[in-house]
Amino acid sequence: MNGMKIKNIFITGASGKIGRGLLPELVSAGYHVRALEFEEPVEGKNVEIMKGDVRDPQLAKRALLDMDAVIHLASCKENRELFMETNIHGTFYLLDESKNCGHIKQFIQAGSDARAGIFFYPHPYPIDETYPHSAYPGYYAFSKVLEEVMCEQYIIQYKLPITILRFSWVHDEDDFLCHITLREPNFGVPIWKELAKSPEQKSYFEKNIDGVAKLVHPGGKPGIRHIVSIKDAVQGVLLAIGNPSAIGQAFTITGPSPFSYGFAAEHIAKKLNLPIVEFEDDKFYDFTHNIAKSRSILGYDPKYDIAKIIDDAIEFRKSEKKRHPVKYIG
Ligand SMILES: NC(=O)c1ccc[n+]([C@@H]2O[C@H](COP(=O)([O-])OP(=O)(O)OC[C@H]3O[C@@H](n4cnc5c(N)ncnc54)[C@H](O)[C@@H]3O)[C@@H](O)[C@H]2O)c1
Repeated sequence: MNGMKIKNIFITGASGKIGRGLLPELVSAGYHVRALEFEEPVEGKNVEIMKGDVRDPQLAKRALLDMDAVIHLASCKENRELFMETNIHGTFYLLDESKNCGHIKQFIQAGSDARAGIFFYPHPYPIDETYPHSAYPGYYAFSKVLEEVMCEQYIIQYKLPITILRFSWVHDEDDFLCHITLREPNFGVPIWKELAKSPEQKSYFEKNIDGVAKLVHPGGKPGIRHIVSIKDAVQGVLLAIGNPSAIGQAFTITGPSPFSYGFAAEHIAKKLNLPIVEFEDDKFYDFTHNIAKSRSILGYDPKYDIAKIIDDAIEFRKSEKKRHPVKYIG
């Protein structure tokens, strides 16, 4: 099945955005999956469900029994009260038991480009795996750096076979439309309503008129950023599992190319017949990722550029399927 003979995988966060996409793929790839179920039910056929909370120091021992690998996705996102217990202690308990039990061949940690500050800071070069940790403000990004630092030390101190996958903002369902169109449901940052200054911009929100946001820098140049489709994110995880070259390494998992808010706004305006509304943001710094390392070592080959992400989001909306609730904004 893979270079490292991984068969049994313990996964946390299986009911979350990435977990939901990954779970069926793990099962159809032939892995035996033990999924941790916390508050929401884990949807999955042929999956062993284990109920539990990563904050419980006793959980890791029974969760890792007979497992070859861990995929750790559980996270509480932006939450000052919970992040230390959930993200930091939770990760620590799993890392430490992986070290103690001695039979974990790979520990895959979900990292994030939040650790590199994305649009909050100027970037002198495309963000790659050597780019220094520079979390953007808030507890979530801070926790993504602390988790990685713990992983880095477990690699150095104990040679624990860890792989860190640093995802960009993952897009599933109609997430991108929720981000870029003005009517509710609207989430993601920047928040258009907060950037609305002119009476015309404000009227979209006051009168609940829909439009598509075009983020621009002072002077009018559209903002550039880099995101990833759930399908490419799942591809990245599958390629990392059991790959000996992925051990002890971090990888950027994002889309094939960055996108411009100018292109995205025009593509959506045409397809959905919506007006384009410009929002100027002098605090947004362009960022792009360099995925050469993931391409060469993992064989990662992302397929979903922004046009495909948008087209999938439009299809999802047309299908009238119900969205999964979003617990945080990105
Ligand atoms: N979604 C993204 O855009 C994105 C981007 C970069 C990195 N990531 C990282 O990927 C991982 C998964 O993200 P996601 O968006 O799928 O998450 P999500 O918010 O959709 O789901 C979080 C999951 O964690 C579980 N969880 C929360 N608290 C728990 C606890 N105390 N015990 C056990 N389980 C608990 C929830 O039940 C849920 O299954 C996280 O580490 C996140 O930081 C996500």
